[in-house]
Amino acid sequence: KRIAILISGSGSNLQAIIDHQKSHSDLYEIALVISNRPNAYGLVRAQNAGITTKVIDHTEYESRESFDLQLQSEIDAVNADLVVLAGFMRILTPTFTKHYLGKMLNIHPSLLPKYTGLHTHKRAIEAGDLKHGLSVHFVTPELDGGPVILQAEVDIEPKDNEASLAEKVHIQEHIAYPLVVEWFVKGNLSLKDNQAWLNQSCL
Ligand code: GRF
Repeated sequence: KRIAILISGSGSNLQAIIDHQKSHSDLYEIALVISNRPNAYGLVRAQNAGITTKVIDHTEYESRESFDLQLQSEIDAVNADLVVLAGFMRILTPTFTKHYLGKMLNIHPSLLPKYTGLHTHKRAIEAGDLKHGLSVHFVTPELDGGPVILQAEVDIEPKDNEASLAEKVHIQEHIAYPLVVEWFVKGNLSLKDNQAWLNQSCL
């Protein structure tokens, strides 16, 4: 299988998938990494791993539609079976999300449906929550609203601040995301009737 990974920043989740792919090279290939930001550190991570990278700078496009069309043409040019959003900080148009329905994953740093959008760690602390975490989900037109595949929890302790909590969540993200990618490329995971379907025998 061939996967395309979309990033905007540091790319630590990208790195986790690169590391996973190295030990599962029979299962899938990272065909392309795309960043909408030219200076995203994740581009360096991909280049260090010998992966083809592309920058599609959203500031050079006059509309979301034209940006998404360019994204789509680059992804489709490499025949990607799966699109993985890994810290990709752009809202995608419904046309784009529908094109990849059932073939696009996102990782979000909260226990969805809580805290869609930004600043999730801060919001969880301010709400006095005792638990926080991450969700991996299929992408649908609704922002952070697609069917959840896997969640992992972390405790919010009194001493936690936004940075320490983000770090705890990141550690879990780096375990969860490669696992979900593995399920998908093995054919154990799919979107059916707007629900995530997982072959339980792979657990
Ligand atoms: C992660 O926390 C992910 O949940 C969110 O963006 C962050 C990306 O981090 N969508 P990184 O670029 O993978 O380090």
